[in-house]
Amino acid sequence: MTSNNNSIQFHDYQPKLAQLGEAVIHGLSQHPRSIPPKFFYDQTGSEIFDDICETDEYYVARTEIGILENHRKDIAKHVGTGCLLIEPGSGNSQKVRILLDALRPHAYLPMDISRDYLQFAAQQLANDYPWLEIHAACIDYSVPIDLPFAPVGTRKVAFFPGSSIGNFERGQAKIFLRNIANMVEPGGGLLIGVDLKKDPSLLHAAYNDADGNTAAFNLNLLTRVNRELGSNFDLDGFSHHAFYNEEHGRVEMHLVCEKSQYINIHSKQFHFSVGESIHTENSYKYHIDDFQELAQQAGFRPIKVWSDEDHLFSVHYLEAEHENN
Ligand SMILES: C[S@@+](CC[C@H](N)C(=O)[O-])C[C@H]1O[C@@H](n2cnc3c(N)ncnc32)[C@H](O)[C@@H]1O
Repeated sequence: MTSNNNSIQFHDYQPKLAQLGEAVIHGLSQHPRSIPPKFFYDQTGSEIFDDICETDEYYVARTEIGILENHRKDIAKHVGTGCLLIEPGSGNSQKVRILLDALRPHAYLPMDISRDYLQFAAQQLANDYPWLEIHAACIDYSVPIDLPFAPVGTRKVAFFPGSSIGNFERGQAKIFLRNIANMVEPGGGLLIGVDLKKDPSLLHAAYNDADGNTAAFNLNLLTRVNRELGSNFDLDGFSHHAFYNEEHGRVEMHLVCEKSQYINIHSKQFHFSVGESIHTENSYKYHIDDFQELAQQAGFRPIKVWSDEDHLFSVHYLEAEHENN
């Protein structure tokens, strides 16, 4: 479905509600229990994520923004002008603003699972950049993406900031990167933000901010499930738990049950005992070399990497290889 909202084209491939039901029932039937992190992002989830980015503890957003600002010219030199700029998981589309004037893309394709938020962010961008052609698509990027707009002969570059790559297990990350390489085609590029391994106390603070934004973000998942699937999670009976798992090199987020309860979802019933958890997110942290090796295995050639002076975060420019290279 395509609609033209003045200066933006909107392409709606929003996943059906049935997908949420199937994923939640499947995830809660596993041991340990889990729900995929993409379901955090309803309108409220997207708004709380923006609040997290403003907290003192969440170094991720401001460090990546600093890198993009400090190296904007060099980034533009490598990415080039006139590309089709595709941003999976574009959220509020704030970071791309740092690059737009330097890159002067042929068109910008923000893509997000959070439909209304995407539409709002795309419209804000259209208001502020009247010269920019925008094709916004509500789409799930965890499966291969069929581009709704791809002018022949225009080089494609994907932009994937926020270290969202860290939400995938290593094998899944490789599949995702390979899908992106196929999408941008040989000679196309990927500009990607990747969070680095660091002192676990910084990580602990970042995912447990003092004002409770991350806790609210995590718990909002159950509010959403209650609202959209008619379930009966008692939110006062669950608490946010986030910690760095050294062995796996990832921050884990969980919702831990503190009050024994029975949860009904559609025709299924799940019993939660005190101490049982729902694993809601992983955020894998990388060493630079380690990430470049993964990117190479997925069909990309590392071209350049930028970092901050404390080596908290990295931004990589990768080019999709021609097969057999
Ligand atoms: C961590 S936020 C990052 C937002 C933005 N890219 C940034 O760096 O600030 C992840 C974004 O990706 C979107 N998202 C998460 N999983 C997705 C999926 N499977 N398909 C499409 N969008 C997804 C969320 O709605 C959210 O806007």
